[in-house]
Amino acid sequence: MRHLLDTRTLSRDDAILILDTAEDMAATQQREMKKLPTLRGKSVVNLFFEDSTRTRISFEAAAKRLSADVINFSAKGSSVSKGESLKDTAQTLQAIGADGVIIRHPASGAASRLASSGWIDAGVLNAGDGTHEHPTQALLDAFTMRRRLHGDASRGQSLDGVSVVIVGDIAHSRVARSNLWLLNALGAKVSLVAPETLLPFGVREWPVTLYHSLDDALATERPDVVMMLRIQTERMHAAFFPNEREYARNWGLDDARLARLTERAIVMHPGPMNRGLEISSGAADSPRSTVLEQVANGVSVRMACLFLLLSGERPQSERTEG
Ligand code: CP
Repeated sequence: MRHLLDTRTLSRDDAILILDTAEDMAATQQREMKKLPTLRGKSVVNLFFEDSTRTRISFEAAAKRLSADVINFSAKGSSVSKGESLKDTAQTLQAIGADGVIIRHPASGAASRLASSGWIDAGVLNAGDGTHEHPTQALLDAFTMRRRLHGDASRGQSLDGVSVVIVGDIAHSRVARSNLWLLNALGAKVSLVAPETLLPFGVREWPVTLYHSLDDALATERPDVVMMLRIQTERMHAAFFPNEREYARNWGLDDARLARLTERAIVMHPGPMNRGLEISSGAADSPRSTVLEQVANGVSVRMACLFLLLSGERPQSERTEG
């Protein structure tokens, strides 16, 4: 693997390799060896053209725990605000000697453009491009599901037969897209729930079951996982969105719906959350909620991705004895 640009083209074997490598990373962290020397001497650039809390600090923590040097770049306060192009920014990073570039960009396809451009000779990791994909979010979500469902026996496991209901602003969600491709590769059954105006063109070609009613989806699917999505008002035309009260009443995970979930069901949200809109505080803070586990697992998953792309070493699971 040279770049990580999407989950649509990630094979089941590669997905399981990343998740198992993340298990190795998590085990190492638990043994209190906070820093591994794996990426000593390598430079990793966090190239963020859009705001982020979780993804940026998680990649920074992951790279530092592998002993890489980390350069944080945010478009605000850089020469991008003077009109500098992605090409000139990339060539500047090449001149500095970046080994890995983690890019978040408002344009769908920006990560692929950077990887295929020839402007830079670095591994590219997509940290979210427009409404296209957010592959490390989906990987950390799958890692969290596997951990909750299989516990200490997670290594090597897929998500065959797991029922996942993804609810909300599917139209603008790169998280939904990356999750559905990855979950499909891992054998899960994915259902999407949204008002018609928040479904994207082409959704009926995707390998999913569609619902407009959250209550119908929960009653029919009896899901193992309910994944709530943020309403992305910054990407939305006002005409797409029912008013907030109507949205919360019909598509929000409130305390009453939480109480109707099966005993084993977990509640996920990639963050940041709009509490009281797509999710109640009762649901967000309940024992079923994996919101903070997802953040913690994100560091192990991103360590795994950086290791597999940049170290040139084979993962532990592929090494033979002797
Ligand atoms: N889940 C996620 O991508 O969060 P941030 O926007 O805070 O990085």
